[in-house]
Amino acid sequence: MAAIRVLLSLFVGLSAYYFYSQETLSADIVRGKRVLVTGSSTGIGEQIAYEFARMGAHLLLTARRDQQLKEVAQKCLELGASSARHVVADMNNLVSAQNVIEEARNKLGGLDYLVLNHVGGSGLFGAFRGDMAEVTRTMTVNFLSYVQLTLSAMTMLKESQGSIIVISSMSGRIAAPFNLPYCASKFALEGFYSSLRRELHLQQTNLSITVAVLGYIDTDSALKIVGDKIIMKASPKEECAREVVRAGVLRHREVIYPYWSIKPFLLLKEWMPTLLERFLDKYFILENIL
Ligand SMILES: NC(=O)c1ccc[n+]([C@@H]2O[C@H](COP(=O)([O-])OP(=O)(O)OC[C@H]3O[C@@H](n4cnc5c(N)ncnc54)[C@H](OP(=O)(O)O)[C@@H]3O)[C@@H](O)[C@H]2O)c1
Ligand SMILES: *[C@@H]1O[C@H](CO)[C@@H](O)[C@H](O)[C@H]1NC(C)=O
Repeated sequence: MAAIRVLLSLFVGLSAYYFYSQETLSADIVRGKRVLVTGSSTGIGEQIAYEFARMGAHLLLTARRDQQLKEVAQKCLELGASSARHVVADMNNLVSAQNVIEEARNKLGGLDYLVLNHVGGSGLFGAFRGDMAEVTRTMTVNFLSYVQLTLSAMTMLKESQGSIIVISSMSGRIAAPFNLPYCASKFALEGFYSSLRRELHLQQTNLSITVAVLGYIDTDSALKIVGDKIIMKASPKEECAREVVRAGVLRHREVIYPYWSIKPFLLLKEWMPTLLERFLDKYFILENIL
């Protein structure tokens, strides 16, 4: 019985993957659309901005570092963005989150895509030492500010029948040691946005929510934080951004990247959690962590 179920879900997974990968994305859907990308001064957010830029979107970028944002905005223009602005904001402050949405209203006159991507944290990777201030800060930056941005942008997104793209992680679906506040914030995002998606659907509100479940991606910060602590190959951030944007524009409920490194774990999680844990434990280089 179990074997049949495994085979059946593998088949369904494969067909869904095949179906999704066949759908093509035309830049015309995105040209002239208004896009806010948070955490776009570097990493995956920067690459997501470039993807939208190539398709001719109007971009509003935000993060804390002014100079980096300026450079990314300039490159967006070179790549074909209809316009590219930036606003400096610290998402540890929820009033700043409201101000960023005000900026979108004033400068873009509305919003079609809200891409929630920024992530803050100590950059530490190790055993949890019970630092409550760190939990509060991480939950504020990685979760509460996402909710604030979403609430403030809701009217504009409903008006445009727009889309929210939420960057989550395998650590939002499967327990992960050595970065507990981060893991908690990603689980919180999954709960909030998948429930919001249901509510919007039941209210017949045409607003799509795409959750991106990402594996290990080769951004400078990820390589620096876990590069010598886990045995895993990082996937390219450029391809990651392409897959995320594609899924968001096609209004898919979720995108898993890299698909084949993550999907089997997600399937195993419910059926054979102990086996999964034993398997995942092998990825950590404990002598470099503890
Ligand atoms: N890389 C991976 O392996 C991986 C795996 C799974 C999921 N993800 C997810 O992918 C997303 C992007 O990750 P990444 O690797 O690209 O990270 P990153 O390179 O460290 O970029 C993080 C972005 O967030 C901004 N940021 C940090 N703290 C902020 C704050 N307090 N207020 C406003 N902005 C802030 C940073 O800009 P400033 O410093 O200029 O503020 C930067 O633009 C995150 O949601 C992450 O959880 C990444
Ligand atoms: C929902 O919005 C999208 C994008 O604006 C549009 O293409 C689609 O036709 C809409 N669907 C419905 C049922 O109105």
